[in-house]
Amino acid sequence: MANWKQIKAEDWKENIFHLLDKEWTLITAQRNDGSSNQMTASWGGFGILWGKPVAFLFVRPERYTHLFMTDDAKISLSFFDEAHRAALAYCGKHSGREGDKSEKAGLSPVSLPNGFPTYQEARLAISLKKLFQADMREEQFVEKEMLKFYQKDGFHTVYVCEILEINGR
Ligand SMILES: Cc1cc2nc3c(=O)[nH]c(=O)nc-3n(C[C@H](O)[C@H](O)[C@H](O)COP(=O)(O)O)c2cc1C
Repeated sequence: MANWKQIKAEDWKENIFHLLDKEWTLITAQRNDGSSNQMTASWGGFGILWGKPVAFLFVRPERYTHLFMTDDAKISLSFFDEAHRAALAYCGKHSGREGDKSEKAGLSPVSLPNGFPTYQEARLAISLKKLFQADMREEQFVEKEMLKFYQKDGFHTVYVCEILEINGR
């Protein structure tokens, strides 16, 4: 894709609360064998850890995407204009276990110049390298009220990923 512009993390000006909570993102994880899956996410964050710009992702073990978050996976976050809300809603409701979601959601997978996965329709794509992961456990919750989020589905796996590149249109 010729029309991507790299943005340095320190120059990135988006409101990340609006970006995640209101716009949502599509996590795509591509394994070494080329297979991939994607899911919508709105919980997470961006910051600095170990001297690096990082993203924090929270993926429940039930998600098919969880199987694709291998140590050597090419992980990316893709962001879209409002016109693609339905595609994100689809990828947040259906599982890749049922078939190729990107096709059904009307998204066209493409590679960034660095080989990481994103979509023709995305306006912003962030390439990530996994640095750390840990599974939440009940006894770690200081505020027990938060356990209400885990009555049905499992405790999230927390991923800390280095931001390799931010690419905007
Ligand atoms: C707006 C929105 C935000 C979501 N955020 C997350 C999230 O941060 N973490 C998570 O594990 N699931 C989240 N989900 C649920 C997954 O996207 C959903 O279960 C999806 O169908 C999983 O697909 P998969 O089985 O192909 O991985 C969210 C869903 C929506 C609609």
